[in-house]
Amino acid sequence: MKRMILIAALLLGTVGFVPASARAEEPVASPPAGDAARGKTIFHGKGGCAYCHGTDGDIGRRPRKSDAHTQVIAQLDPQPADLRNAAALKSKDDAQRFASIKFGHPGTAMFPRETQLLDSDITDLLAYLAILRTN
Ligand code: HEC
Repeated sequence: MKRMILIAALLLGTVGFVPASARAEEPVASPPAGDAARGKTIFHGKGGCAYCHGTDGDIGRRPRKSDAHTQVIAQLDPQPADLRNAAALKSKDDAQRFASIKFGHPGTAMFPRETQLLDSDITDLLAYLAILRTN
């Protein structure tokens, strides 16, 4: 009896199996879109973005680290961009935003993240930033 269950489990387990080669041949219509939920986690986590750009991109609501930290950010010139305010942003498309995040803006607090974030992390961030711009 035990043996039958084992065989049935093995057979059932193979039903949904698609060989990797078959999947790879599917046509890719557009570049893979980022995962906005993951982007949000990176924005508030290892990306450290929220410290300057605000919790949920709300520029007036930054996580508090210390008084000194708050003061340094308040004095930044230029000030961190309001990522919710689409009309005020300088970047025209995701390619420019990708470059802003990966290579930073020289001479500003928007420092490069190329050693900190994977390209896929940045793609996920872009999906999240797109949602912020609709707020
Ligand atoms: C230490 C503060 C700081 C942190 C942390 C920071 N930024 Fe910025 N960011 C800035 C500043 C300042 C600017 C504006 C630079 C300028 O005006 O050239 C900016 C600009 C940008 C822009 C371009 C906005 C535009 O006008 O098009 C994007 C996109 C952006 N940041 C995304 C991010 C993301 C995503 C993260 C996290 C990985 C992040 N930033 C972390 C300070 C910061």
